[in-house]
Amino acid sequence: MTLTVALIGSGAIGSRIVELLDAGTVPGARLAGVVPHGKAGAGFSFDDALEVADVVVECAGVAAVAEFGPRTVAAGTDLLVTSIGALGGLDAITAASAGGTIHRITLESRKLPAALVQPWMDGETKERLLAATRPVELLRGGPADLIKAFPKSTNVVSALALAAGNWDVVEAVLIADPGAGQTAHHVVAETSLGTFDICVTNEASPGNPASSALVPHAVVRGLKSLANASGSFI
Ligand SMILES: NC(=O)c1ccc[n+]([C@@H]2O[C@H](COP(=O)([O-])OP(=O)(O)OC[C@H]3O[C@@H](n4cnc5c(N)ncnc54)[C@H](O)[C@@H]3O)[C@@H](O)[C@H]2O)c1
Repeated sequence: MTLTVALIGSGAIGSRIVELLDAGTVPGARLAGVVPHGKAGAGFSFDDALEVADVVVECAGVAAVAEFGPRTVAAGTDLLVTSIGALGGLDAITAASAGGTIHRITLESRKLPAALVQPWMDGETKERLLAATRPVELLRGGPADLIKAFPKSTNVVSALALAAGNWDVVEAVLIADPGAGQTAHHVVAETSLGTFDICVTNEASPGNPASSALVPHAVVRGLKSLANASGSFI
């Protein structure tokens, strides 16, 4: 059976996923279309996606998840959110949450200052951030604080909170680091079944220095699991 895929978003991540699907990287999967941003024209629409797709892949941002996510799930269609999936070690946290207690998870994320400029920052704050010559701590707080202030940098913290099944045990520190050639995440999860100390560094997307080169491949891997649901190593 063919797995029919619809995409929301075709920026740095979505356009790479289109390339990978068009190149036949996921045998058994077919791209039905990309839902356009803004007013739909005569082309592929979100309603078309719901009608034909087995899975809707979001690679458009937090607001798009809020806009399209509930209707996708309510329609009984699988929803693959790019916000989750690029981080190793989640399985251990999910397992510890199921079989034990998660005491505390800390996340320290480092990104280049230019990747952390936000629309709400005033001119002086932006200038100071971009001129930084040493690491600057921008925010320390829980997932909700991070989602509000840096919505494009919340994927790892959201993934951790969902894996833990508890948003209150997660604390994040976001650092603008002019020396962070690669985006870096350091996770320490203290649980009743062990302490997991995980460091992940990943390359930026060639098309967008604020995005990830790894995520399109994480999505394709997820689609492969859906398209070939049995008999493969996961
Ligand atoms: N899991 C991870 O580690 C990770 C890493 C980087 C980015 N991301 C997520 O992936 C998202 C996309 O990243 P990107 O680098 O491709 O961003 P991008 O800015 O290059 O592309 C986003 C695309 O989505 C489109 N879009 C936005 N809102 C839309 C809507 N309501 N309907 C249809 N299209 C819409 C935009 O027009 C754009 O083409 C990010 O917002 C982020 O949430 C996840």
